[in-house]
Parts: sequence; C-alpha cells; structure tokens
Amino acid sequence: MSADLLRTVGEVRAAVAGARRAGRNIGCVPTMGALHEGHGALIDRAVEAGDFTVVTVFVNPIQFDRREDYEAYAISLPADVEFCGRRGAAVVFAPSVAEMYPEGFATTVEVPSLAQNLCGAFRPGHFRGVATVVAKLLNIVQPDTAYFGEKDGQQLAIIRQMAADLNLPLHIVAVPTVREADGLALSSRNRRLSEAERRIAPLLHLALEAGRRKIAEGSRDPAEVRRAAFAVLEAEPAFRVEYVEVVDAQRMQAVDAIAGDVRIAAAVWLGSTRLIDNVPA
Ligand code: PAJ
Repeated sequence: MSADLLRTVGEVRAAVAGARRAGRNIGCVPTMGALHEGHGALIDRAVEAGDFTVVTVFVNPIQFDRREDYEAYAISLPADVEFCGRRGAAVVFAPSVAEMYPEGFATTVEVPSLAQNLCGAFRPGHFRGVATVVAKLLNIVQPDTAYFGEKDGQQLAIIRQMAADLNLPLHIVAVPTVREADGLALSSRNRRLSEAERRIAPLLHLALEAGRRKIAEGSRDPAEVRRAAFAVLEAEPAFRVEYVEVVDAQRMQAVDAIAGDVRIAAAVWLGSTRLIDNVPA
C-alpha cells in the first residue's frame, strides 16, 4: 500500500471529504517526521481502529526555542511517506511553512497554566508553538480521533486541555511510549547521540524506574522519589539534569503527596542532545 503525499490544505480537505462521503472515520497523527516505531505505534492504532489515517509531517518552526535545534532536525520525507504507506495510512500531509504560516499569520493558542513547569520552564514559547500548530492541523484535517504519544506527557496534557477548552469535536487517544530493548524511549533526537552517549542514554529510563520502585515500596513523598531518580542520574557525570518531577498523570503538575495516578518525568542533556521521558507510577 502507498500513502498519498499532499502538500496543501485544499488537497487534504478534499481527500478527507471523499473519505467521509465513503463513510470512513478520520484519524489524524500529527508528527514532525523522521518517523520511527514510536510514531508507528500511533499510526497502527489509527489504522487498527479502521480510520482513514492522515499522518501530518511538519517541522513546526514556531515550537523550536533554539534555532540550531530547528536547523538540525532530521528531514526524510520520502522515507516517511513510504513508512506511512507500509503501515496502512492513507495520506501524508506535509505542508510547507508558507502553507501553514502565510504572510500576515497572527494568531496563537496557549494553555499557560499547564505550560509553566517541566519542559515549559526550560523552553520558553515551545508549548505555545505546539498548541498553535496542533490546533491548526486538527482544524485542517478535522479528524474524529487524534493520536498522541505519552512520551511527550506535558504536550499531551496541554493538547487535551486545549481540545476541551476550544470544544474541538474529536477524541484524543494516548498511546504508551515505545522503547528500545534497553529502555530508551524512541525519539528522532536519539540519532544525534554518539555511540558513547547512546550507551549512557538508557540510564534516564532506569532513573525513572528507580523512582517508580520507591512508590511501589510504599513511599508517598515526592521528594524521596525524586531523590531516588536523581541518584541514578547524578552517578553519570555526562548527564546535565534539567528536572525530575512527580506529577499528576492528567495535568502533569507537581504533587505534594502521592495519591492516585502520578507520573515521574525527567529531562536531561547528554552532550548537545536533550532527552525527555516519563513513566506511570
Ligand atoms: P514528534 O516528536 O514527531 O512526535 C509525534 C508524535 O509521536 C507525538 O504525539 C509523540 O508523543 C509521539 N511519539 C514520539 N516518540 C514516541 C515514542 N517513543 N512512543 C510513543 N509515541 C511517541 O510531538 C511532536 O512531534 C510535535 O510537537 C507535534 C505534536 C507534531 C506538533 O508539532
């Protein structure tokens, strides 16, 4: 099977309208391309649900807080289209920057109350860029269901809140994080790691697991859980830790005491690569 590569809003709207007339439900999987098995799990969920699946591939300039990160972002559109086709997606929507942000574009979407902590504290404007582009993509595709990864937990919380607040008529499905055999969460940025860094990187997940173990052993104190995770990260001098937090699973906000569903989330730098991860606990 092959997926159709569409570049304009008009084309994707026409394709979706045709699928709707044929009685199909529409599924949307927003991505920035450089697709890997993590994205694949989202596409599989949509295809397995029987959706006419639209994968969007757009490296969104307004969500990058560092220019060099934007410029280094891997682009592999032909391989991505092939990947999507193989997994049964119907359409790859890969608009140009000018198609998404034409001259005079002036609107932004923001969920400030959920964007102040975790990654939001270290990446000014990032989640405004994410919320704005996701609102646009969902308005362009108008899916019944949109699929997002738990890997980007704060992003997921912000998108859920935005969709509820703006009455977007769709369901959001969260897909668990896909990991390498050694626990490292798949990410487009992993390919920037040197061999030595790649060997160290799974310690991030191990650190979160150490936190999770503390909770499983009965700890209800976020400080104690954070210390357990920190201890693993601090033992490896190559890591520069941005944050380790215990947050509620729905809103991804720090908790004072552990009760109900929480996640442990962390961000670290390894050389010039920033890695994030989170686990349920
Ligand atoms: P990107 O990093 O390409 O991720 C696209 C989607 O794939 C997100 O929902 C992300 O959470 C999910 N994903 C990435 N790695 C995953 C993994 N290892 N397991 C499961 N899901 C994974 O996130 C973005 O793009 C952008 O911010 C976007 C939402 C497209 C807006 O520009």
